[in-house]
Amino acid sequence: MKLGVNIDHVATLRQLRGVTYPSVLKAAELAMRAGASGITAHLREDRRHMNDADLEQLAASGYRLNMEMAVTEEMVAICSRLKPAACCLVPEKRQELTTEGGLDVVAHFASVKAAVETLSARGVEVSLFIDPDLEQIRAAKECGAPFIELHTGAYANAGTERVAAELKRLAEGARYADSLGIRVNAGHGIDYENIRPLLAEVPHLNELNIGHSIVCESVYYGLEAAVKKMLERMATYQLG
Ligand code: PXP
Repeated sequence: MKLGVNIDHVATLRQLRGVTYPSVLKAAELAMRAGASGITAHLREDRRHMNDADLEQLAASGYRLNMEMAVTEEMVAICSRLKPAACCLVPEKRQELTTEGGLDVVAHFASVKAAVETLSARGVEVSLFIDPDLEQIRAAKECGAPFIELHTGAYANAGTERVAAELKRLAEGARYADSLGIRVNAGHGIDYENIRPLLAEVPHLNELNIGHSIVCESVYYGLEAAVKKMLERMATYQLG
């Protein structure tokens, strides 16, 4: 199973101060060096974390790039020009903290199908980010999407009484998609704890896209070295 590392929140840290660091390219390099199969980045309409220059750089880096994007003319044009290896079509609301629900492929069938066709013709592997809902999965198939990404957010946020039901929905969705010949990815809210039941219950997973938990974990593993490095500079550069 492959891991796509979503590095949006490396860009979030940069945008908090309007500076040029941390570098998303460097983060991509480290993630790839650690064994990630690709880098995932969401170019949101409001550019709250990744910006156009980031996507340009990542697309030119040679790393496998999965561009997450809304189904808009602007995004389809950018993706058609950058030609990342893959793209994942997501719903997007301006006020949301993060992508809140799956794409409603049934309701937006014509526009989603048109985007799938345009991007597939450019050689981009298209995936639709949807809830584990059989009707949505069938619509994804009818759109000609080769991949879906099952939204794991409801599972990740479920209290103890809902976890089993959410896992069952994901497993049924994955089986149904596989029976239709659609390849299945999954993502959103996956962390170091909830990954175990997810992998134990849900079959046919090709790739997981994980961001927030990995960037958070990197604080624990990087903070000690970062503080030591600053203390070393203080000791080296202080006057007399
Ligand atoms: N997959 C999709 C389609 C997403 O929109 C996101 C969040 O941007 C992720 C995966 C990663 O989610 P998280 O940051 O919670 O791991």
